[in-house]
Amino acid sequence: MSAPSFLLVLSLIILPGFSSPTSHDSDTLSEGSRLAVKNPDHVLVSANNVFSAGFYPVGDNAYCFAIWFNDPYCPHNCTLVWMANRDVPVNGRRSTLFLLQTGNLVLTDAGKNVVWSTDTSSASSLSLRLLNNGNLVLVTEVGVIIWQSFNSPTDTLLSWQPLTRETQLVSSRSRSNFSSGFYKLSFDDANVLRLIYDGPDFSSIMWPDNWLRSFQAGRSEYNSSRIALFDSLGNFTSSDNLTTSSSDYGARLQRRLTLDFDGNLRMYSRQDWKSSWVVSWQAFSHPCKIHGTCGPYGVCRYIPSVGRTCSCLPGFKMKNLTDWSLGCEPEFNASCAQTESTFFGLAHTEMYGYDIQIYINYTLDMCKELCLQRCDCKGFVFKYVFQNYPDYVPYCFPKSQLLNGYRGPNFRGKLYVKVPKTSEFSNSWPRKQIGLNCSAGVVTKLERKYEKSQGNGSVAILLWFVSAVGILEVLGMVLVWFFMIRTQQNTAAATNQGYVLAGTGFRRFTYSEMKNATRNFAEEIGKGASGTVYKGMLDDHRVAAIKRLDDANEGEAEFLAEISIIGKINHMNLIEMWGYCAEGKHRLLVYEYMEHGSLAANLSSKTLDWKQRYQIAVGTAKGLAYLHEECLEWVLHCDVKPQNILLDSTFQPKVSDFGLSRLLNRGELDNPSFSRIRGTRGYMAPEWLHKQPITSKVDVYSFGVVVMEIIIGKNLAMQFQDSDNMEEAEHRKLQDVIREMKHAGVTDALVKELVDPEMGCDFDINKVKTLLRVALNCVNQDRDSRPTMSQVVETLLYQTNDDEEQN
Ligand SMILES: *[C@@H]1O[C@H](CO)[C@@H](O)[C@H](O)[C@H]1NC(C)=O
Ligand SMILES: *[C@@H]1O[C@H](CO)[C@@H](O)[C@H](O)[C@H]1NC(C)=O
Ligand SMILES: *[C@@H]1O[C@H](CO)[C@@H](O)[C@H](O)[C@H]1NC(C)=O
Ligand SMILES: *[C@@H]1O[C@H](CO)[C@@H](O)[C@H](O)[C@H]1NC(C)=O
Ligand SMILES: *[C@@H]1O[C@H](CO)[C@@H](O)[C@H](O)[C@H]1NC(C)=O
Ligand SMILES: *[C@@H]1O[C@H](CO)[C@@H](O)[C@H](O)[C@H]1NC(C)=O
Ligand SMILES: *[C@@H]1O[C@H](CO)[C@@H](O)[C@H](O)[C@H]1NC(C)=O
Ligand SMILES: *[C@@H]1O[C@H](CO)[C@@H](O)[C@H](O)[C@H]1NC(C)=O
Ligand SMILES: *[C@@H]1O[C@H](CO)[C@@H](O)[C@H](O)[C@H]1NC(C)=O
Repeated sequence: MSAPSFLLVLSLIILPGFSSPTSHDSDTLSEGSRLAVKNPDHVLVSANNVFSAGFYPVGDNAYCFAIWFNDPYCPHNCTLVWMANRDVPVNGRRSTLFLLQTGNLVLTDAGKNVVWSTDTSSASSLSLRLLNNGNLVLVTEVGVIIWQSFNSPTDTLLSWQPLTRETQLVSSRSRSNFSSGFYKLSFDDANVLRLIYDGPDFSSIMWPDNWLRSFQAGRSEYNSSRIALFDSLGNFTSSDNLTTSSSDYGARLQRRLTLDFDGNLRMYSRQDWKSSWVVSWQAFSHPCKIHGTCGPYGVCRYIPSVGRTCSCLPGFKMKNLTDWSLGCEPEFNASCAQTESTFFGLAHTEMYGYDIQIYINYTLDMCKELCLQRCDCKGFVFKYVFQNYPDYVPYCFPKSQLLNGYRGPNFRGKLYVKVPKTSEFSNSWPRKQIGLNCSAGVVTKLERKYEKSQGNGSVAILLWFVSAVGILEVLGMVLVWFFMIRTQQNTAAATNQGYVLAGTGFRRFTYSEMKNATRNFAEEIGKGASGTVYKGMLDDHRVAAIKRLDDANEGEAEFLAEISIIGKINHMNLIEMWGYCAEGKHRLLVYEYMEHGSLAANLSSKTLDWKQRYQIAVGTAKGLAYLHEECLEWVLHCDVKPQNILLDSTFQPKVSDFGLSRLLNRGELDNPSFSRIRGTRGYMAPEWLHKQPITSKVDVYSFGVVVMEIIIGKNLAMQFQDSDNMEEAEHRKLQDVIREMKHAGVTDALVKELVDPEMGCDFDINKVKTLLRVALNCVNQDRDSRPTMSQVVETLLYQTNDDEEQN
């Protein structure tokens, strides 16, 4: 039976008075008619064919009335935009969406229970229409909108759809379960747009960063209009002064802003109808910084090739093997007796929030003592916080809860977990890293009987549902309010970890300001492929390095788009950009000034001792790892060399010149067309020559060459350049040397032969060996055999740590 004749029969037999949209691409449902779950073709389609509205399967025999992007073909895998009944799916038989003559739009479940309605009424005749912008509206004949789906978003905003004081975005529970999850985006009582985690056991503010006061995060509390939206070009603006634009600012076919099930807020776009969605902006660059990921006593770790993984603290086990959000529970019986407890230390591990108090200038022993004395102290985080050079001051953060755990080489503190003295833990923590299974959250079958309707039943269920939602809401608000009060007392803990977005300082300079600052470009301090660098002093007396770009043929809009992204990249091992100037054809970049110049200059003037060299290798690796894996827009450097590694007053390295070659997001990394050669001969990976796809491994290769030079103290790359101008030959020669070394093995003899004579005997041979092994791995001909930058960081850091622990 064809669909139309089936509908005809259906309407005659089962539902007298039934009239369907005449064809399945109608955008309007008129008063007195209904959509039935039974027929999958029975959907509203917007006039421009972009959106559909209808019953969408969310499980076995479970349906939700939804709006989705009308992809070329997506029977079960559409990009959903809105849902009417996400928490109460309906049966696959006899459920209908009915536009009553009274003007009320009701969704009934099989037994005729009303699970959702718009609660509208109208004397005049109404119709339900799916507009071209994805808004489902109830309109009168004269075009007055009396209800619209834009006013009750679920987890997605479309362009020009405002988020207001009455609305919020709530994430889905999991990738396959669309019911309400734990992450919420809404305006708080202080008019600030916030992302909060509101989970089963606790709730916390995730974004903007909790310990930043709103103004530090670039937010304003003064505008009470509470409205946020993004335009079709990709600019997001909010009345609290949050403005951001997507990395692909400009005309795109479609955009959406979704609070994903994993707790990250992302803007997606797609260029054309058939291509897949790409992320063009996201609130969190570090996925483990999203709260609640691994639950109480769980620790999140991000491994680029695998994604987020969770593990339990030593002595704890997973509470429910199917759900990480419930976290872990102790395998021991906790005791309050001081004499029976001790601590288990985990390096590079953070547990965010729930500080009982913050103790500054407390030694480790004092902190242990303090935590032992308090029964509510479950453990503490101990770290040195940089105050004024050369002072690192110890901070002690005793915790009443161990939540929001994450582990990463960039976190410089150590977690101490309180455990009974009697318990024995293996040192091989983490014992098991369990990947977050995205397909977990098994879709359950909706078991419902198709009963006859029962008069008041529907009203009762509706009332129950409404009051339940109300109570939950109030509870949530109280929790959030309570937590905000607490955290406002804790804002002193402004312990910068290098992730903070440059909130305020970044600005635009005029060309005349630039001329004044550099005294008409008098003092040249460097020259590179992209331009010349001058020393200058800004009006506020900060000394700056001002780079004048030679090849400024880029349009202003693209320049600004790229600059604003680079300006937001902030890490202690990356040079900080203070601002820019774009006037006429002038393009200048204003950076912080580095007192000790470049690594290249320091290597050739032989000023670096062994400790400094190791520190430079580790810091450079951290900076690159951050660029590749953690920062907002994943950036390839493409020109890593000693000239681009600058040293500050304490000889900490900062990588410069990143982001200039081109900003890439991950989707484009595989793009083989990205093969215009860039970089500096001698440091360039073989992929450039062989026209292979360019990945972050090109930077790993260059880093390997740099580390060799740090060890040897000679300009390795230059040697090869001098001897032969053929690029092929350079590589072959370097590879020959490497093969020899690998063949011989990294022996003490080799190390002693290689190491820069300037260092004398004052070096740690084991660490040199580690460095050399890392360097050899990095310059591997085969890019897949090279480690990632974060693996390099881990190798170098944990090597350091193990040594310290043994001492
Ligand atoms: C659903 O879509 C996602 C993303 O577009 C894709 O990765 C996945 O393979 C699709 N699943 C099915 C069953 O088609
Ligand atoms: C908000 O931004 C506007 C323009 O960008 C600026 O004039 C204003 O001072 C900002 N308000 C606050 C409180 O920062
Ligand atoms: C949108 O962003 C672009 C690029 O950042 C900027 O040039 C433009 O002024 C912004 N538009 C609005 C309306 O904020
Ligand atoms: C408050 O924000 C809205 C929306 O961004 C804007 O239109 C309005 O002018 C702002 N009001 C004030 C007083 O800044
Ligand atoms: C784990 O959670 C699932 C779903 O919430 C539940 O069905 C199951 O009984 C739980 N398992 C245990 C051991 O508690
Ligand atoms: C914890 O206490 C319970 C009851 O007091 C006991 O049955 C259990 O064996 C104890 N567990 C451990 C690990 O000591
Ligand atoms: C930390 O304590 C030491 C001695 O215990 C003292 O000399 C130093 O001034 C203290 N520093 C701060 C920032 O309080
Ligand atoms: C994820 O879960 C699905 C269904 O529960 C299972 O089939 C799959 O093997 C799991 N994947 C991993 C990596 O655990
Ligand atoms: C989705 O998750 C919720 C909460 O865990 C659960 O009650 C519901 O049964 C799940 N729905 C489906 C369709 O799996």
